Amino acid sequence: MSVVRSKILGVGSYLPEKIITNDDLSRMVDTSDEWITERTGIKLRHIASENEKTSDLAYRAAIDALKSAGITSTDLDAILVATTTPDDTFPATATKVQKLLGMQRGFAYDLQAVCSGFMYAMMTADSLIRSGQVKTVLVIGAETLSRLVDWTDRNTCVLFGDGAGAVILTASEGNGTSLDTGILSARVFSDGTYGDLLHTTGGPSSTRTVGTIFMNGREVFRHAVVKLASAAEEVLRNANVSSQELTWLVPHQANLRIIDSTAKKLGIDMSKVVVTVDHHANTSSASIPLALAEKVKTHEIKRGDLLLFDAMGAGFTWGAMLARY
Ligand code: UT7
Repeated sequence: MSVVRSKILGVGSYLPEKIITNDDLSRMVDTSDEWITERTGIKLRHIASENEKTSDLAYRAAIDALKSAGITSTDLDAILVATTTPDDTFPATATKVQKLLGMQRGFAYDLQAVCSGFMYAMMTADSLIRSGQVKTVLVIGAETLSRLVDWTDRNTCVLFGDGAGAVILTASEGNGTSLDTGILSARVFSDGTYGDLLHTTGGPSSTRTVGTIFMNGREVFRHAVVKLASAAEEVLRNANVSSQELTWLVPHQANLRIIDSTAKKLGIDMSKVVVTVDHHANTSSASIPLALAEKVKTHEIKRGDLLLFDAMGAGFTWGAMLARY
């Protein structure tokens, strides 16, 4: 049976030049390289410069992805930007990227699902492609989380970083089996009753400010492993694929211990898990496309590889996606 699949045509990334190490942080708050490494696996994070906005990071990743796909912005029908840190409350960062790319056709909008944003954007792009509304979509996860961090709060300031990752999806033909190239299965979830465990202390309609990040880390951790594993299992089941058949797990990069525990629950050996949290930290919606782009560039992820993405974040929101690269 012939079906439409959303194929990953290209990937791109951008990380700001400035780096803050754990030792740098230990001079700012009461923490240590030892604590951060042991509890999170993070060694350093990239931080946007004063004049770099989320749209600048997103644009750089977009240019990289277009080059990787061998197309130009005139070939794009839509741009979806997953971000929790837009340049401004409006217009959407996606329309800024559209302008920077010199693209005056199609449409562009933002999606906000915090650390699961990239999963939501990919699922939406896949639906738009499979319904025949568009052929080629640029999906970007871009964040300047450093602008939401309270740099005096050791509970959160050690965890986050800035960056952007991009993927270009295009319609292709498959035969409806798990041997097809492209997105094979995807599910996203949310449960707003957990909103208080991870949130910002402000927003345009509540405080007229952006607020800073508050997190009950221990509780978020506990839910993360369970929800990530159950979303992944559902997506695998829907595609009739076992975790043993995966080439790579490409998880959201929040904490090495969460990644490790989820892989164990799924029976996936850590040698098949992409880990970038050590040198990217948690870049929220950018973390999966950044991790994917890194491993495609080093040729560790190759055409034909079976990839499982999963993410969990504030809301709570979570989700998983199975794709053959
Ligand atoms: O991407 C969205 C999803 N977010 C996540 O997945 C993050 C989930 N949570 C986590 O990654 C972990 O819970 C943290 C890394 C945030 C914290 O690790 P933990 O092992 O859960 O530590 P904890 O919160 O239980 O805190 C242990 C201790 C506390 O001290 P007391 O109360 O035991 O005396 C904290 O005050 O560690 C203290 N602590 C620190 N010490 C040194 C908290 N942050 C730091 C720090 N340096 N940066």
